[in-house]
Amino acid sequence: MKVDVLLGLQWGDEGKGKVVDVLTPRYDVIARFQGGPNAGHTLEFEGTKHVLHTIPSGIFHAGKVNVIGNGVVIDPVVFKKEIDALKARGVDVAKNLFISRKAHLILPTHRLIDAASEAAKGKEKIGSTLKGIGPAYMDKTGRNGLRIGDIEHPDFLSNYNKLVQKHKVLLAQYNFEYNLAEMEPAFFEGIELIKNLPLIDSEYEMNRFIKENKSILAEGAQGSLLDVDFGSYPFVTSSHTITAGTCIGLGIAPTNIGEVYGIFKAYCTRVGSGPFPTELNDETGELLRKKGNEFGATTGRPRRCGWLDIPALKYAIMLNGVTQLIMMKSDVLSGFEKLKVCTKYKYRGQLIDYVPYDVVNEPIEPVYEEVEGWNEVLDHVTDIDELPQSLHKYIAYIEKATGLPITIVSVGPDRKQTMLRDIMVK
Ligand code: IMP
Repeated sequence: MKVDVLLGLQWGDEGKGKVVDVLTPRYDVIARFQGGPNAGHTLEFEGTKHVLHTIPSGIFHAGKVNVIGNGVVIDPVVFKKEIDALKARGVDVAKNLFISRKAHLILPTHRLIDAASEAAKGKEKIGSTLKGIGPAYMDKTGRNGLRIGDIEHPDFLSNYNKLVQKHKVLLAQYNFEYNLAEMEPAFFEGIELIKNLPLIDSEYEMNRFIKENKSILAEGAQGSLLDVDFGSYPFVTSSHTITAGTCIGLGIAPTNIGEVYGIFKAYCTRVGSGPFPTELNDETGELLRKKGNEFGATTGRPRRCGWLDIPALKYAIMLNGVTQLIMMKSDVLSGFEKLKVCTKYKYRGQLIDYVPYDVVNEPIEPVYEEVEGWNEVLDHVTDIDELPQSLHKYIAYIEKATGLPITIVSVGPDRKQTMLRDIMVK
């Protein structure tokens, strides 16, 4: 069976975790392919909220296989906390969580370098989550990194110390104080825990699942507009967040990709620095933040908020080969008399409908169309036909602009507040 992919079409925080959790009953295997503890996938059911950082969002469904692929970077400290929290809720991770030996490790010194480098950038900082993501991927591509499989090797400690020495030389260039000795015990506790979990050659396992006709869902992290190549560089994350990243991060061929679910919020948010054409620095932005509870699941930082951006959405759809759309947080837009949708940009004196090369140094101005809003509170709506007419029109408007069907509409954080339309494929 082909591998379906679910990923974010904006700047992350679209609600991927919740939808993966809802779709998991349809799949045998859920796999993460990139990113690491910079992600915060929030799931809500039975009155409780769960935040996952590294572990796939299928973990709450007994009997489903959850794979952390080679493209992911793992911080044993965060990972152990996640595992401990899951165990406390009675989730048996040893049975259904498998980790790629080729996934790279985030060392405490990676986190220190992240913090030192951001502090040194001052106003130009990326707004990193400071989880050590960039430095860990730098060591991966620089061919210095340590991988999960290395912890099984008798020389692991000496290899760890060698890499730490390199990092200390780097850190010496920054005026940055740190206490590594305080950080290391938690790291090694995490390493011991990982040693006792099933470590796999995930590229072989994934391809075996495909051959055995298992249904597989690949779960993206961050968002397409944070992709290291296609995002607003340098204000991006360090991994490939788009569909192509699935092939690299799991070791599967492009011909094995099936459906691509592109998930987006009914408006836009961004956390951290970088261009955001439709950002609202006014009371409307403030209202969206308040109503949408737009604060980071990983860092708690307030998210920047703005109207839906169609050229950016279409760019992400193009990069990912999206086959169906999922619209989140429609409930947050209740109460606005009119909604604005950016359909074009004003850039270098011209009207354009694409994302230009330089959005960092050159001003880019959104050009809006107005559509009707709705007043109805949507929290309790469970039948798509009960959604207000204006929301149906908003859905139709986006479908027309993108040329794709919106097959899932979400009106709240709970599993139950998710409506699958009968046009959904699968
Ligand atoms: P890093 O990946 O932690 O280095 O952060 C790079 C940029 O991506 C920053 O602007 C972060 O705020 C943003 N970012 C990283 N992970 C996420 C995420 O899961 N959701 C939203 N933004 C993220």
